Amino acid sequence: MSTATLDHRPDTAGTDTLQIRPLPGSFAAEVLGLDLDRPLDDARFARLHRAHLAHPVLVFRDLRITPAQQVAFSRRFGPLQIHVLHQFQLPGHPEILVVSNIVENGQPQGLGDAGHYWHSDLSYVAKPSLGSMLLAQELPSEGGDTLFADQHAAWDALPPELQQRVRHLQAEHSYLAKYEELRARSPWRPKLSAEQIAQVRPSVHPVVRRHPETGRLGLFVSEHFTTRIVGLPEAESRALLDQLFAHSTRPEFQYRHVWREGDMVFWDNRSVLHLATGCPAHLRRRLHRTTIEG
Ligand code: SIN
Repeated sequence: MSTATLDHRPDTAGTDTLQIRPLPGSFAAEVLGLDLDRPLDDARFARLHRAHLAHPVLVFRDLRITPAQQVAFSRRFGPLQIHVLHQFQLPGHPEILVVSNIVENGQPQGLGDAGHYWHSDLSYVAKPSLGSMLLAQELPSEGGDTLFADQHAAWDALPPELQQRVRHLQAEHSYLAKYEELRARSPWRPKLSAEQIAQVRPSVHPVVRRHPETGRLGLFVSEHFTTRIVGLPEAESRALLDQLFAHSTRPEFQYRHVWREGDMVFWDNRSVLHLATGCPAHLRRRLHRTTIEG
């Protein structure tokens, strides 16, 4: 995956100011000048699609868009997935999950501990996510960064004997893996109904996935959702997963996103894991997330 491309050519006869600029020393790139007040023509969409394959974290700057525009833009990349916690859907926009630590009149305004552990969004469903778009609404003056870890780089750096050992293994992913643990210490985790539990039955996926568009191999396990390696004794499975979790999130594979007003980050859940680093509890943080089916 190239991180060296500097792509600032206007796409439509000089009428567009779209610029895609790699962020130095990382696999992320920033996108300037996206105007979603006018139709996104195929040429601009194709540039963004290519950029996203080259840079699995795209940071759109200075984006002032409505929820309907976020939903429409996300849909250009695929059908949207609705989060099982319907309590935190944005009213009128079930495709948007409100990620927020704000509690008003005793009522949580969003999922405040989303991303507390490293994960790939919705890896626990049968068709895991292509990517997610997270749009800043209200940012804390301190903290609240999001970390991303490149799982292709993590795979490439795995010692050959470990690559060989895990290459054809399968692992189970479950939404419920850490749910009760989080619920015990957070006001944001409602008791799940039987219907919600039925919606999140565990799924099995390869430990090493080939990216369907770039063809690159990457690790696909996470401390939040991966519960066991299929077919291995419990202790062996646990030890191997712990080894993979520690490896896959090593600092050299990471990009830290420090949020700015107007940012929308679009990451590839097939290529990166992410983690919300949290902010002081008295500071308000609110973002809107859409998740695209893979
Ligand atoms: C998430 O995991 O989707 C939320 C990440 C964040 O709040 O930074």
